[in-house]
This record gives sequence, C-alpha cells and structure tokens, in this order.
Amino acid sequence: MQSIAIVGLGYVGLPLSLQFARSGARVIGLDIDPEKVELCNKGQSYIKHIESASIAELRKKSQFEASTDFSRLRETSAVIICVPTPLNKNREPDLSFVLQTGRMIAPHLQRGMLVVLESTTYPGTTDTDLREVLEADSGLKAGVDFHLAFSPEREDPGNPHSVVATIPKVVGGFTPACLEKAKALYGIAIKTLVPVSSCRAAEATKLLENIFRSVNIALVNELKTVYSAMDIDIWEVIEAAKTKPFGFMPFYPGPGLGGHCIPIDPFYLTWKAREYGKNTRFIELAGEVNTAMPDYVVNRVAEALNEHGKPVKGSRVLILGLAYKANVDDMRESPTFILLDSLKKRGAEVAYYDPFIPVIRPTREHAHWTGMESVKWNQQTVSGFDAVLIATAHKDVNYQELADWHGCIIDTRNAMAALRTKPGTIWKA
Ligand SMILES: NC(=O)c1ccc[n+]([C@@H]2O[C@H](COP(=O)([O-])OP(=O)(O)OC[C@H]3O[C@@H](n4cnc5c(N)ncnc54)[C@H](O)[C@@H]3O)[C@@H](O)[C@H]2O)c1
Repeated sequence: MQSIAIVGLGYVGLPLSLQFARSGARVIGLDIDPEKVELCNKGQSYIKHIESASIAELRKKSQFEASTDFSRLRETSAVIICVPTPLNKNREPDLSFVLQTGRMIAPHLQRGMLVVLESTTYPGTTDTDLREVLEADSGLKAGVDFHLAFSPEREDPGNPHSVVATIPKVVGGFTPACLEKAKALYGIAIKTLVPVSSCRAAEATKLLENIFRSVNIALVNELKTVYSAMDIDIWEVIEAAKTKPFGFMPFYPGPGLGGHCIPIDPFYLTWKAREYGKNTRFIELAGEVNTAMPDYVVNRVAEALNEHGKPVKGSRVLILGLAYKANVDDMRESPTFILLDSLKKRGAEVAYYDPFIPVIRPTREHAHWTGMESVKWNQQTVSGFDAVLIATAHKDVNYQELADWHGCIIDTRNAMAALRTKPGTIWKA
C-alpha cells in the first residue's frame, strides 16, 4: 500500500485525500489548522458537500488520518500540495502559503520522493519558486534526487455529478521521469490522466480554463446590461442560443464573480506576463466588467425601490445567498459582501439569508461583517424588508414562498423565472 501525504485539507485537499484513501492509498492529511485536523480525525466534515460518513469510514479502516506534524512525511513516498494561492491587497500573487509549505516539507524530503503542486498559479512556480525552496532547505536536487510535478485541481463544488476520480487530470513533470512518477501516483485514484510536456504547460492549462470562464462570464454580464436596456431578457436569449448544437457554450450572468478561483487566478497570469513585457487586455477587461456588476445590481435595487416610492437610504434590504455559488457553504470572495457594503454605504439597512451559512465566520477582507447572523426564513421576517435581492440561488430556498410573500424582488440569477409571480414584482438584474 502506497503512503502519501496531502498538504492542505481544504476544499481541494480534503476530497482528494478521501479519493486516494478510497482507492487504496494510505493518506496522511497535513494542515497547519489544528481544528480541521481534529475534526477530520474525529471523522467529521466541516465542508457541507463532503459527508462526515465518508471520512469516518476511511478513518475506521485506517486509510486516512490528519496531522499537523510534517515529520510524518518520512512515512510517505509522495506529497501533494493543495494550499491557498490568493492575491495580496495590491492584487498581486501571494505565494507565501506555497513557499511556506515548501519550507516545511524540505527538511523531511527524502531521495526518490515525489512532490506535486496542485494550487493554481502562474507558469514557472513549480520549476522555479517551489523548486528553489525545496532544494535550498533539503540539499537535494529536483529531477535528480527527488521528483517534482504540477497537476491542477478541477473541483466543481456543489455539483453532485463532479467526482474527483472521473475528472480527467492534467499532469506535467519537471523531467520525463518526474512525469512518469506523477502518472503512477495519480493512476491510483484518477481514471483519466492527461500528461503534458512540462510543469509550466500544466500550470498554463489551469489558467486557460479559469480565464476562459472569467472572460465568458464577463461577456454575458456585459450583454445583460445592453439587452436589459433594450428590454430583452438575457436569460431567454441564452436558453435559445444554447440550442445551437455546435460552437456555443452557455455562460450565465450574475452579481459579480466569487469563489477562490475565477476572480483571482487570471491575475496570476497578468502579473507574470508583465515580466515578459506582455499585456493581458482580455483578462483586465473581463475583470473590469465583472467587478462592475455589484454596482449595476445595486442600481437596479435603487430603481426597484424607487418604483415603490422608497429611497435606498433607510430601506431594509434582504440579500438571499451569501455563498458565492449555489448549494455550497463557501463564502470566499462572494459578491454578496460587496453588495452588503455598497447598500449599507447608500444608507440601507441590510441583512442576509443563507440556509448554509447561519453566521458569518471571520474573513480577511470583510472582517466587519463577522458574527452577522442569517435571518430566519418565515413570512413575517421576509415580508418585513422593503426589497429582497437574490444574489445566490440555492436550491434549498422556496422561491414560490418568496414570490407569495414579497412584492419587490431583485433577481440576479433568474431564480423566479418559472414561478407564479405578480406583475411588477420581479426586477431582473
Ligand atoms: N476550491 C476550489 O473549488 C478550487 C478549484 C480548483 C483549484 N483550487 C486551487 O486549489 C488551491 C487550494 O484551494 P482550496 O479551495 O482547497 O483552499 P482552502 O483554503 O479551502 O484550503 C487550504 C488549506 O491549506 C491549509 N494551509 C495553509 N497553509 C498551509 C501550510 N503551510 N501547511 C499546511 N496547510 C496549510 C489551510 O489551513 C487550509 O485548510 C488554491 O490554489 C486554489 O486556487 C481550488
């Protein structure tokens, strides 16, 4: 049985650990957060879409355990790194988590071991930045004494049909031998591997995938504002366009980008491209259009309130959905925070409802909302607001009840489209 370590028991590392464990590897999950480690060892999940039962079962079979002790790496032949790659406050890549992890691994690195980075990042991170810290602190050489590779994660949180084992996985090695090692490792748990020529090609592949989403979402967000001015419904247009059996793929507008990937990853490339004297105008433009969306939505809230004879100032606005996407409990980079800030700045009294986030946990960027609690879902509470803004359309919300209870609903997700609603009550935004 192969023993492997996975560093970072987050939205990527935890499901990956469970998949490897289920496939027969012995997995040690390493994290610097003792709380997550303790929960995992008790067989408890802290992520809504990962069942505690599957962790508990693998704990019972001793296929999986969690630890904060990096010396446990000595029991393993491979380590996969799944730590955050955010932007700093100047919107530049923050590789500190990756490099710190590299420094923590290096003293325990042994000859023949494989190190794989999965965190999304710019081309060159694995074979330069990470390689340098691993080599400096271990005295070993990548491609000679230990193997090094990059393999991007393709996680689709909240999608029940997205299963780690069946999502094809791109793998690039520092040398051809590194690639072979990485293929052998992932072959344990993943059905289809897509080898590419280098770590850089694998890093660039992940960025292409996420930039593709960012640019296409920006396109439909822009068309939404144009079509809305022409009194054309963008959602109706997308439904019609997607019947084309070739050359079209639907993307949907929304209140702005959210999550740990799409609002962040494209700017890793923008930053790196400057080193090569290159501009990334598509990426910048998409970022500009997408970050303008919360303002557009707040203006629609103002128009809707105005129609009801109310100013934004002093009105009570309820935002439905704090998570950045439907059916997950992940609120990282959620545009709802911007909507809360923006409406509050205009003098509105704001609240949120999210069945999966009963209270706002501390965040780095939105610390001032920490501790705010979701309102309760009942007619008296909901109808007590002057407007309801749908930012995230969780399946678990009863939108027909909302339609029955409220006469001023601003809908950024087309959640009310198929329901019985009274004329003049729904504002698409
Ligand atoms: N969440 C997604 O859907 C998704 C999809 C594809 C790619 N990614 C990429 O995967 C990477 C990880 O994302 P995530 O969503 O799993 O992040 P996350 O914040 O959910 O998890 C990261 C984990 O790493 C731990 N950690 C931080 N520094 C550490 C260190 N030095 N040593 C050990 N553990 C450490 C944190 O405590 C946390 O548990 C990012 O680069 C992200 O862009 C995420």
